[in-house]
Amino acid sequence: MKALTVVKFGGSLIRNSKFQAKFFKEIAEISRKRRFILVHGGGPEINVMLEKFFVTSKFVNGLRYTDVDALSVVEMVLSGKVNRILTTELIKNGANAVGISGKDGKSVICKQVKELGFVGTPIKVNKKLIEVLLKAGFLPVIASIAQDVAGNVMNVNADTIASSIASAFMAEKLIFLTNVPGVFDKNKKIIKEIKVKDVDVLIKNKVITGGMIPKIKGCVNSVKKSVKEVWIADGKSGIKNIKGTVIKK
Ligand SMILES: Nc1ncnc2c1ncn2[C@@H]1O[C@H](COP(=O)(O)OP(=O)(O)OP(=O)(O)O)[C@@H](O)[C@H]1O
Ligand SMILES: [Mg+2]
Repeated sequence: MKALTVVKFGGSLIRNSKFQAKFFKEIAEISRKRRFILVHGGGPEINVMLEKFFVTSKFVNGLRYTDVDALSVVEMVLSGKVNRILTTELIKNGANAVGISGKDGKSVICKQVKELGFVGTPIKVNKKLIEVLLKAGFLPVIASIAQDVAGNVMNVNADTIASSIASAFMAEKLIFLTNVPGVFDKNKKIIKEIKVKDVDVLIKNKVITGGMIPKIKGCVNSVKKSVKEVWIADGKSGIKNIKGTVIKK
């Protein structure tokens, strides 16, 4: 079986067209030689569309509460816009991309985080559909929406989904591409390597905050589940000559 790479494409990157051409070309080329899964978020795009539809949100401890109106905008943007842009560009560059979400084939089953409304956290990955696609030479592009056991649709953090999928498939590599060149220390210098045992202190001391928290927690989870190489890196530098922060056991 060919080695598998899972890449999470940060929603923050979708609006930066400067480096996208290089990124899509690189992924298309790699995905023709090895198995590849792309998971994506869409934070900034969702915010723009919520404003356009005049959907106001309340926040719980700094996290958005997703009500039923927000959820329909979230799914429309993730599956209808961001996922379409990514598959279109990948196909244009020669990849065999297929856009799905965690819902399709019950690939990701989640559990509701009640205090945040229609927000879920993954509890199970069903590998069947993704396996079928990979075996047939397709590149699955997965939007971060899933259903719970009762079928209710939930918005799920894309970092957490990427990590769950990488762990379930025992991927060789998991790479989080984002809008910063890696994890900063308290002096805003990139930390080249982080050990699993050091993560709690970095979060406790508020060196790692906000959107970096689910990313680093995803890294820890996957490293513990035997994913060999785990990175948080700059979307601009791409994945061939990857630079950023590596997370090690
Ligand atoms: N120690 C840290 N080092 C680097 N970035 C940090 C750190 N702590 C918090 N951050 C924040 O984390 C952000 C990256 O996470 P964010 O969720 O915003 O992007 P993303 O996950 O790439 O996009 P999306 O959530 O839309 O998929 C950075 O832009 C930065 O503001
Ligand atoms: Mg994020």
